[in-house]
Amino acid sequence: MEREKCREKVWQAYRGVGQFAAAYDGMMANSSLLGRLAMRWVWGISDEGYRRFLRQAFAGIPKGFAGRMLEIPVGTGVLSLPVYRSLPQADILCMDYSETMLAAARQRADGMGLANVSFLQGDVGQLPSPEGQFDLVLSLNGFHVFPDKPRAYLETRRVLKGGGIFCGCMYVRGESRGRDFFVQNFCERKGYFSPPYETKESLEKRLREGYEEVSISLVGSFAGFVCKK
Ligand SMILES: C[S@@+](CC[C@H](N)C(=O)[O-])C[C@H]1O[C@@H](n2cnc3c(N)ncnc32)[C@H](O)[C@@H]1O
Repeated sequence: MEREKCREKVWQAYRGVGQFAAAYDGMMANSSLLGRLAMRWVWGISDEGYRRFLRQAFAGIPKGFAGRMLEIPVGTGVLSLPVYRSLPQADILCMDYSETMLAAARQRADGMGLANVSFLQGDVGQLPSPEGQFDLVLSLNGFHVFPDKPRAYLETRRVLKGGGIFCGCMYVRGESRGRDFFVQNFCERKGYFSPPYETKESLEKRLREGYEEVSISLVGSFAGFVCKK
């Protein structure tokens, strides 16, 4: 599918998800019954696996981090905003291009009284920040969604300072035939994911081209990554 059409399809899909944010949050937080069933039966991630998934997703953020950080895409903030409570000294900008997802994230941050977190609607392919603005860029479950992945990799690297940390997690193909089938025949058709997808090996190779100290871990079909520019 041509990129612009794919972008529109993904945007429509997450506009819908944002309108039913509670259902999305229940799955991502592994807290609703349906969410836990999906985690287990679709993604093959048990409760213990889910705890490991969270640890690997946030493994790149140093304890007590107090620099400038970009999170993209923040979605509804269900995973990251609770973590930001433990980073009161950090200056955090959260971006997403879906205004409904962002609205849910803003509401959550307000409810939590997070004063050091701001929000901006924007596309990962055209970040409105000058070069080298951030000490850390976090991307949770974004790179299997972004329609223009080469631009997303370029832009997230451009806005990172030399020595800055790029980290997060994404779906990788090739770990389970059943999950790859589900991604192709459900997630992709609905516009929740967009190909091409990394494998663990291709992700490692790609990150090594632009970063140092690359480390990758796997929980089911989700790769956590941490590296330094
Ligand atoms: C699977 S959600 C992940 C959200 C959150 N990080 C999480 O793990 O719950 C994917 C998000 O990517 C956003 N998105 C998709 N394409 C984007 C783009 N080109 N620029 C910025 N955000 C985008 C969607 O709006 C959606 O909120």
